[in-house]
Amino acid sequence: MHLLLWRRNVFDLFFSLFFFYLKCNSITAVGHDVSVKKGGNITLFCHLIETEENLIHIIWQKQTRETPKPETFLIVDKDGKTENKNDLLDKFKFTGNIKEKNGSVQLLGMTLQDDGIYTCISIFPNGKTQTDINVTVRVPPVGNVTGKTHVWGHSDIILASCVASHGRPAAEVFWRLGALNDSLRTETSSTEHTDGSVTSVSHTLGAPSKDLNQKKIQCVIKHSTLTKELELDYIINVHYPPDLVVISPDDPTQTQEYLCSVDCNPAPTSYIWIKLNGSTLRSEGNKLFIPKSSTDSNGVYICTASNQYGSASGFLYVNNTGSTDDCWLLFGLVFSCAVLWISLAYILSSGRKMHRV
Ligand SMILES: *[C@@H]1O[C@H](CO)[C@@H](O)[C@H](O)[C@H]1NC(C)=O
Ligand SMILES: *[C@@H]1O[C@H](CO)[C@@H](O)[C@H](O)[C@H]1NC(C)=O
Ligand SMILES: *[C@@H]1O[C@H](CO)[C@@H](O)[C@H](O)[C@H]1NC(C)=O
Ligand SMILES: *[C@@H]1O[C@H](CO)[C@@H](O)[C@H](O)[C@H]1NC(C)=O
Ligand SMILES: *[C@@H]1O[C@H](CO)[C@@H](O)[C@H](O)[C@H]1NC(C)=O
Ligand SMILES: *[C@@H]1O[C@H](CO)[C@@H](O)[C@H](O)[C@H]1NC(C)=O
Ligand SMILES: *[C@@H]1O[C@H](CO)[C@@H](O)[C@H](O)[C@H]1NC(C)=O
Repeated sequence: MHLLLWRRNVFDLFFSLFFFYLKCNSITAVGHDVSVKKGGNITLFCHLIETEENLIHIIWQKQTRETPKPETFLIVDKDGKTENKNDLLDKFKFTGNIKEKNGSVQLLGMTLQDDGIYTCISIFPNGKTQTDINVTVRVPPVGNVTGKTHVWGHSDIILASCVASHGRPAAEVFWRLGALNDSLRTETSSTEHTDGSVTSVSHTLGAPSKDLNQKKIQCVIKHSTLTKELELDYIINVHYPPDLVVISPDDPTQTQEYLCSVDCNPAPTSYIWIKLNGSTLRSEGNKLFIPKSSTDSNGVYICTASNQYGSASGFLYVNNTGSTDDCWLLFGLVFSCAVLWISLAYILSSGRKMHRV
């Protein structure tokens, strides 16, 4: 019984408070929260409804991160005369009309320091009403992607970092790894600065294998101030020792010149050519020259390529027989034909030119 009575009292109390609230607010100032991009202008609407009473004053106050105590920056009297309490004349403009109970104000060139709560206070002969407007200043983040060259290895390390610095609110940062989705992972964190802006960082981690070398990944930054997402490409660079060495003809039609091709990063610092049981050979960097006709050059050639991480070798077996001379002959014939065609074409075209003249 007691409990029931108590509950009822609480219920009644709640309702009387609710009606009291409505009564107090029968004069209502209407305003809505706004957000503005840094550097932009914004109008704060403050309009009184449901009242016949005349306004005596409209007062605007602001509370910011730096000045948490409400600070008056504008007073408008009943004749519409404005008084600026701060030396911030160029920072705002009264655009309302006190006769029309419109207290709107325009804020110019918003900075992050202007972010805060703005209060519109309307003073009547018998009281006042006020409304708070949250003003959020949005700041585009500055994007950057960084990384360095890694030496191949098996342990997980940070391969690249993508930073969206000093954005407000926090920017969304993530990586598009494409085919590397399964071999790499990402870690994202953010720190808030004292001015309310946030720096978000996303790292890509993985073991720097040679397969990752020269692979492209993409960092994406999304923010409400950016009309489209910011895409920052990054190319992974991994250093590794020579792995595969292949010696092949430089030009398939001309087997006199061979090339030593190496899979390594960075490019080999040296190429060493030797011939097994060998006489001297002619080479230049990654190129080997073998005189075509002579059978003296038959044998096994080795190319050893090195960079600062190691070295590896490849082999070439040469066995020139008489039959290659036929090849030469054939090639010579094709060459002559080509020369003939070119000469013929030239004669024809100059003939045509002469005709035109
Ligand atoms: C803000 O208002 C000022 C003064 O009216 C004007 O010069 C400026 O161009 C405006 N800025 C923007 C971003 O609209
Ligand atoms: C109040 O004044 C502003 C600025 O002049 C105007 O844009 C707005 O429409 C006015 N509000 C009302 C309800 O008249
Ligand atoms: C306005 O700001 C206050 C204080 O930061 C917060 O409690 C309130 O939820 C905000 N209102 C809106 C609509 O965001
Ligand atoms: C990105 O960061 C690096 C290292 O901090 C810096 O050298 C570079 O200038 C930055 N790039 C941009 C576009 O801010
Ligand atoms: C990347 O991998 C995650 C899970 O590891 C998966 O949910 C996602 O769909 C993958 N994205 C692409 C583009 O393959
Ligand atoms: C190199 O010479 C040695 C003896 O001088 C011989 O045993 C070996 O088979 C030769 N190797 C080649 C590839 O000719
Ligand atoms: C070269 O090839 C011929 C026949 O194809 C063979 O008889 C000869 O032994 C080979 N020479 C060498 C050095 O392997």
